[in-house]
Amino acid sequence: MAPPRVLFVDHAGVLGGAELSLLDVAAALGARARVVLLADGPFRDLLERRGVPVAVEPMGALAGVRKATRLPAPGALLDAVRVLRRLAARAGDVDVLCANSQKAFVVAALAAWRAGRPLAWMLRDILAPPHFSGPNVRAAVLLANTRSARVIANSRATADAFIAAGGRAALVRVVHNGIDAAPFDAVSDDAALAQRRALGVPDGAFTVAMLGRFHPWKGQQVLLDALARLPGVHAIVAGAPLFGEDAFARELESQAVRLGVRDRVHFTGFRDDAPVLLRAADAVVHASVYPEPFGRVIVEGMLARRPVIASNAGGVPEIVEDGVTGLLVPPGDVAALAAAIASLRDDRPRAAAIAERGAAWARERFTVAAMVRGIEEALAT
Ligand code: UDP
Ligand code: GLC
Repeated sequence: MAPPRVLFVDHAGVLGGAELSLLDVAAALGARARVVLLADGPFRDLLERRGVPVAVEPMGALAGVRKATRLPAPGALLDAVRVLRRLAARAGDVDVLCANSQKAFVVAALAAWRAGRPLAWMLRDILAPPHFSGPNVRAAVLLANTRSARVIANSRATADAFIAAGGRAALVRVVHNGIDAAPFDAVSDDAALAQRRALGVPDGAFTVAMLGRFHPWKGQQVLLDALARLPGVHAIVAGAPLFGEDAFARELESQAVRLGVRDRVHFTGFRDDAPVLLRAADAVVHASVYPEPFGRVIVEGMLARRPVIASNAGGVPEIVEDGVTGLLVPPGDVAALAAAIASLRDDRPRAAAIAERGAAWARERFTVAAMVRGIEEALAT
């Protein structure tokens, strides 16, 4: 059987982990992949630059529906009907539609039904409160059980939450993210040092990096609280509010001032050069307070050959073995995070050993090739 031609559907034009992951998958499928985005943005440019055919079908009022709200507004539903008609027309010459987010899944499910094409869902969210409301979870699981031929979960934890919510286990395949190591290996020590200095980090100051969109569940506030307990430690905090969390971003700034750590926190905004930022730090922190479905930034910290500290929930323990390839701390535990950072600062040989084991593990286990193979197999069976 010829490998399938796939139409990927994503609701976002901005660059979250789901989009960066899809970028590598779609680029690897070459002429067999095309992408429809339900919002315009930098993701379209990146796809185009990687040679992936991409079209934008803006979804209007549907964009205002938040994950945790109970029901979509009537205006949003009308927009969905309009978008799904156009999407169904685009699905005419592919073998399978593949939705890359929960929002895209709803629209793609209807379009696939209308176009008479099978549907797969890249499930990248833990379908449970507090990430999602109960009615939202039930609706998504019902739709998956009745309309989806395959659910491709980004971690065992994501798969288990789907099944625990009533999702059919037979639909599920787990495919972890894979990330290209080459851009990390291309950053020289000199470039990393120049980056540190450009950000205003004093030479010799123990520095952690945290990378991710600004959102209360990503836990930037936990890192700031930990810094207040760690005199002299600096933090590079990269990212931006991608989905309207501007008030939270302002609150982080005030929190840093209030705690008296503002001069040790280097906010960079969203950056498209994650590898050099991670290599500019001595350690990498992931501090999500809710279970992280996967957590690309953890693998990226490993690829950057930095010791990683991560929140022990969701898919994270599938990436990090505590004390071996990284350090795990309970989510939201400021004291534990501060202690973990201090332990890396105070025992450099141990920190280096953890970083080396993490780097080797990430290179072996989280490759783009394995991710693409896993997705191809999941779509073909
Ligand atoms: N990222 C980035 N620049 C930033 C902040 C984040 O390129 O300023 C990238 C980061 O390198 C990672 C992705 O955004 O690849 C975030 O993915 P992750 O799976 O960690 O979390 P998500 O945001 O998808 O929940
Ligand atoms: C989602 C999840 C994140 C995961 C990414 C890629 O954005 O929040 O944990 O790493 O998808 O699958």
